[in-house]
Amino acid sequence: MSIDTIPSRPRSAADRTRRDGLQRHERRSTGRAALHEYASTIGLAALVRRAGTPLFVLDPARVAGEFERFAALLPFVRLRYALAALPHPAVIRTVASCGGGFDAVSTGELAMLAHEQIPASDAVFSHPIKRADDIVAAAAAGVRLFVADNPAEVRKFTGVNPELRLLLRLRRAADAAGHPLDGAHFGIDTEHALNLARFAASIGVRVAGFSVHVAASEPDAPAALSSMLHEALRLIDEGNARWGLGLDTIDLGGGMPAEHEGGEGVDAIAEVVRNVLAPRVPQLRVLAVLGRCIAAPAMLLATSVVGQATRDGEIWHYLDDGMHGSFAGLRGSGEVPSMFSLGEIERAGADEREPLYPCTLAGASTDGIDVIARGIPLPPLGLNDVLLCPDMGAYSLVMASNFEAVHRTRVHVLRPSRAQSKRTVSV
Ligand SMILES: Cc1ncc(COP(=O)(O)O)c(C=O)c1O
Repeated sequence: MSIDTIPSRPRSAADRTRRDGLQRHERRSTGRAALHEYASTIGLAALVRRAGTPLFVLDPARVAGEFERFAALLPFVRLRYALAALPHPAVIRTVASCGGGFDAVSTGELAMLAHEQIPASDAVFSHPIKRADDIVAAAAAGVRLFVADNPAEVRKFTGVNPELRLLLRLRRAADAAGHPLDGAHFGIDTEHALNLARFAASIGVRVAGFSVHVAASEPDAPAALSSMLHEALRLIDEGNARWGLGLDTIDLGGGMPAEHEGGEGVDAIAEVVRNVLAPRVPQLRVLAVLGRCIAAPAMLLATSVVGQATRDGEIWHYLDDGMHGSFAGLRGSGEVPSMFSLGEIERAGADEREPLYPCTLAGASTDGIDVIARGIPLPPLGLNDVLLCPDMGAYSLVMASNFEAVHRTRVHVLRPSRAQSKRTVSV
């Protein structure tokens, strides 16, 4: 049945369940076809057989493709890449070659830029809380723009370097139901933001403007971002008109969903940014920080089945990667990554009606939390069969530990010059 034949207003819970199942099935078929095409373009099967698993396959062409997509969507915005998502040298080099700057939250990340001989003068040091030594080191490395959100932090900048400027991070306190929002552990309440800017000016610390961050996972993120940007503009106007603070910069943070998470979200957010901020450019400098939307499509994970069991009637597959490794970023999120067997990707198109069975996937450790997904539909798998998870580049490798002395998953970098489609595999 095609998705067109699904009733748009299901009459019952059973109808809804059936519709959701069909949509999932449809998405999986589309994702499988896209991955089939991509895998044949890059010779994935041979690569995985040669290199073994677990293995990340990093594709610089995808980094460039996504960066260029955002540059076209937000032509007046200075794009920074959030190194926290995936600070791999190949990603750093690609972003730099596309003309992007960087967002760092530690001196370690700045050292990675230095290692690639990329000047830090265009980088933002955006951790709102820093050791005084780190500020001095970052300034010596060339960073000129920092984030702060409280008087004690602002004081750390006195006398460091007269060229440094601060962005004051604005806080999003709680949603309408009173739940704290993602990132609420940072930021100054907007009603105190101008007092903090005036305090900074009074001790000789320059403030450039304000930074905000609305997480991609938030419901109605475009509306939330719109209200934060309006608030930041209001503060800039009031600060300049009443106190002559010379504020001229807004950093709209991250939160652009990756394409596989729902590309339409990006268009809505980009529209908000264009509508609210474009009329104020060029007097206003606008920065954005891209993390997950660049890093996620950059890497695909290949992992193998190393053990199998049936428990309480469920099929369990144990993998050579897990929640203490490359899936660590999923902890507590309730998200299930897209997964395909290498076999079905090689066969894709041959038999569209290949049966799928609900499986539980567990990781490589002995820890009870090391369950990656339950009830995930997969084709029949045997020992040593390979599973492919596209769009796994963001907050994956960086979150992995070496718990139980297991090494982090290796990364194979594809040649950047390879001719191929730059689009993301959307599943
Ligand atoms: C302040 C700030 N900016 C940017 C980012 C990057 O966000 P994303 O990965 O959603 O693009 C984050 C991530 O948590 C953040 O906290």
